[in-house]
Parts: sequence; structure tokens; C-alpha cells
Amino acid sequence: RFLQKRCYAAARRSEPLTEPLSGRKPSPAAPLPPQNVQVSKLPNGLVIASLESYSPLASVSLFVRAGSRYETVENSGVAHVLRLAANLTTKGASAFKICRGVEALGGSLSVTSSRETMVYSADCLRDNLDSLLEYLVNVTTAQEFRPWEVAELTSRVNIDKTLAQQCPQIGVIERLHEAAYKNALSNSLYCPDYMVGRVSPQQLQSFVDENFTTGRMALVGLGVKHSTLRQVGEGLLSARSGPGAPVAKAIYRGGEARIHSNDNLVHSLIVSEGGVAGSAEANAFSVLQRVLGAGPHVKRGSNITSKLSQGIAKATTQPFDVTAFNASYSDSGLFGVYTISQADAAGEVIKAAISQLRGVAEGNASDMALVGYI
Ligand SMILES: *[C@@H]1O[C@H](CO)[C@@H](O)[C@H](O)[C@H]1NC(C)=O
Ligand SMILES: *[C@@H]1O[C@H](CO)[C@@H](O)[C@H](O)[C@H]1NC(C)=O
Ligand SMILES: *[C@@H]1O[C@H](CO)[C@@H](O)[C@H](O)[C@H]1NC(C)=O
Ligand SMILES: *[C@@H]1O[C@H](CO)[C@@H](O)[C@H](O)[C@H]1NC(C)=O
Ligand SMILES: *[C@@H]1O[C@H](CO)[C@@H](O)[C@H](O)[C@H]1NC(C)=O
Ligand SMILES: *[C@@H]1O[C@H](CO)[C@@H](O)[C@H](O)[C@H]1NC(C)=O
Repeated sequence: RFLQKRCYAAARRSEPLTEPLSGRKPSPAAPLPPQNVQVSKLPNGLVIASLESYSPLASVSLFVRAGSRYETVENSGVAHVLRLAANLTTKGASAFKICRGVEALGGSLSVTSSRETMVYSADCLRDNLDSLLEYLVNVTTAQEFRPWEVAELTSRVNIDKTLAQQCPQIGVIERLHEAAYKNALSNSLYCPDYMVGRVSPQQLQSFVDENFTTGRMALVGLGVKHSTLRQVGEGLLSARSGPGAPVAKAIYRGGEARIHSNDNLVHSLIVSEGGVAGSAEANAFSVLQRVLGAGPHVKRGSNITSKLSQGIAKATTQPFDVTAFNASYSDSGLFGVYTISQADAAGEVIKAAISQLRGVAEGNASDMALVGYI
């Protein structure tokens, strides 16, 4: 893992800048015994997993099943605003204190979110972990959502939306979910226009109260003792004990959506329902994605070694880029093909891509092709 400059600074703060660091133990010569992942579940439903890596750097993440799919019509966009609200004032500390406190520990607190989960991560040197975990717990269980602080987030919501709009891939994937699902997974990762500046502190609070329950959380640590994580889980997360409401199942409906632009390139994404995360089917789709070619997008020049592009190249002389697409969620998934081509070649390229997928469905992915991937 990437070691931040801050971490070095924190380690050296109390020591003179001479070599070698006299206060530090030299690293032991004999390798430490490798450890397995330890997993346990607390009575309040919280799942805890840890791996002792003996790294000087510790990393702890709290996963909460509270991504955009849990938004309702009334509070649409709340997950996006919540993702930006992670460093705001809590009951125990002001935003300023959190910012300075985390910095002083040489650590970092960050948040990412997907359609399914919000992930709060704390990274720092192992010695400072206990203090940083207190911040992690407070920002996830003791939010205050002061109206003026929430109002100030609007500009950051707009910046996120502008950046997303500049990336056609994001736009296509957002619209794809909107078309493919009738509910839940159709919600965007970004606050919809009509809700920008309208997500209220009360909505944020009730979203957190109802969705951040221990039955829907997992605490995962790397470079940390299992007992430390259990302590955090038992003591502090009792603040949010409970199973949480039952979750509405995503309904796949299929459909079509178009985004018009004056760009010369056409991005197309054609999918059908894929596998549920963790199922054998999803694993098969994942292998199939690798077989077909899931390389990075290379503008106007595909990875010629991928099965998909080889197949399409036989059908068209136009330049194109193609990758297999796969997404899996707790109750559904999507699998298909993403193509990029010049506007006038789009029809031909898309047709060729679909015919490749059809070929696979008819059994054309030979066993030989799979050997390298299993
Ligand atoms: C966390 O919250 C508690 C209770 O509100 C407070 O006493 C404590 O100082 C807070 N800790 C941090 C690091 O913000
Ligand atoms: C919260 O974090 C963001 C991004 O790192 C930063 O721009 C913002 O100033 C921080 N807010 C506060 C109140 O510290
Ligand atoms: C999440 O919170 C919202 C309120 O903001 C609530 O309507 C919804 O039912 C919650 N979802 C779950 C699954 O608890
Ligand atoms: C092309 O695909 C091959 C095998 O699938 C892979 O090893 C290689 O890194 C890819 N090259 C690029 C530029 O994506
Ligand atoms: C594809 O599916 C596999 C298996 O569920 C998953 O691990 C992988 O992250 C998926 N890839 C994408 C891009 O969603
Ligand atoms: C499947 O493979 C056969 C033999 O290689 C070929 O004739 C056929 O056109 C392929 N089907 C598709 C849909 O690509």
C-alpha cells in the first residue's frame, strides 16, 4: 500500500533527524509467521475481518450497506452528499478538529461509495491506530450535519457532477443502470440535478439512522490485531446496534437509453442480466470477461490480442475499441460489451460486437481459450 509522506512525518516527529533512528527497533531478521484472515461476527450483526500483515502501516475500513441503491424517491442524492460529508463536525469534534487531529496522527480518513456500499477508511502507522479509530467511529456514528456545513457541500456536489460529465464512460454506465433496473440499482451515484442543494440535514440524519446499523456493517482491517477490531466493534459500534430494515430487491427490466452529444465518438454499452455477486455464475462471468478481453480502453486502437477485438476486426475495417463489461451486485448483475467507435461506424461495430457475444452464448468459447485463465 502507498505510504503517505504524512506517515513518515508522524513517525519522526519526536525524534532527532539523525540516522539511524535510535528509538526505533531494528526490524527482526527472521520472517514472522504468516497469519490467516480472521473473521468473526458479533451478536449485534457486525462482521469483523482482520489480517495481521506485520506491516508498520495499518488500514481499517468500515463497510456499510448504504450506497445509492438505498435512496428513496424523496431523498435521492443523499448518498452522494453523505460521501462528501464525512469530515464534517460530529458530536465529539468540530470539522476543524477532525481535520487537524487526523493530520497530527499522520493518518488519513477517506470515503468511497458504490451503489451498494459506503466505505470509510482509516490509514496510519500502527502505533497511532487506536486514536485514529476513535475518529473513524465518531464520523460514522456521531454525525451532526450542521445546516451551514451541509449547505457548503453544494459546490463540491457540483464539482463532482461536472467532473463526471466530462467522462463519457461514467455517463454511459449511469444511464445503463437507469435503463436496466426499475428500482434500487437504477439510482445514480451522483445527486440528480433537481436535488442539488436540496438534500437537507434531516434527510442525511435519517438516512444514517435507518441505514447505518451494525447488521449492515463490516469492519475490515489490515495490519491490525483481531482483538483491537473486536473492541472497536463491541464498544463503540453499539451506538448503532440493529439489523436494519429489510432490503428491497433490485428488479431487472431491461430497456434502452441514449445520451446525445456532439462528440464524434459513440460509446455504446449493451448488456443483459449477469450474475449475483459471489455466485458461481458471477465467477463464470468474471472469467468470461477476462477471456473476451477486459483490457483498459485505448482510444482508437483496441488491444488486438483480445478475443472480442479479433472477432470484430474480421467484420469491419473501421477503427474501434471494445471491452467486455461486467458488474455484480448483491442481488443482480450485468454482463455485456462496451464499444467505442466513430459515429459513422457505430452500427457496424456494435453489430459485430453483439454477434461475438451471441457466438459465446452458442458455445463458441472453446475450452482451449479458458485454460490460461482458471
Ligand atoms: C468522539 O466522540 C466522543 C463522544 O462524543 C468524544 O468524547 C471524543 O472526544 C470524540 N473523539 C474524537 C477523536 O473526535
Ligand atoms: C473535507 O475534505 C475535503 C476533501 O478532502 C476538503 O476539501 C474540505 O475542505 C474538508 N472539509 C473540512 C470542513 O475540513
Ligand atoms: C434507508 O434510509 C431511508 C431514510 O432516509 C429509509 O427510507 C430506507 O428505508 C432505509 N433503507 C433501509 C434498507 O433501511
Ligand atoms: C492486451 O491483452 C493482453 C492479453 O489479454 C495483455 O497481456 C496486454 O497487457 C494487453 N495490452 C494492452 C495495451 O492492453
Ligand atoms: C466482475 O465480476 C467479478 C465476480 O463477481 C468481480 O469480482 C469483479 O469485480 C467484476 N468486475 C467488475 C468490473 O465489476
Ligand atoms: C462459431 O464458430 C463457428 C466455427 O468456428 C463459426 O462458423 C460460427 O460463425 C461462430 N458463430 C458465431 C456467432 O460467431
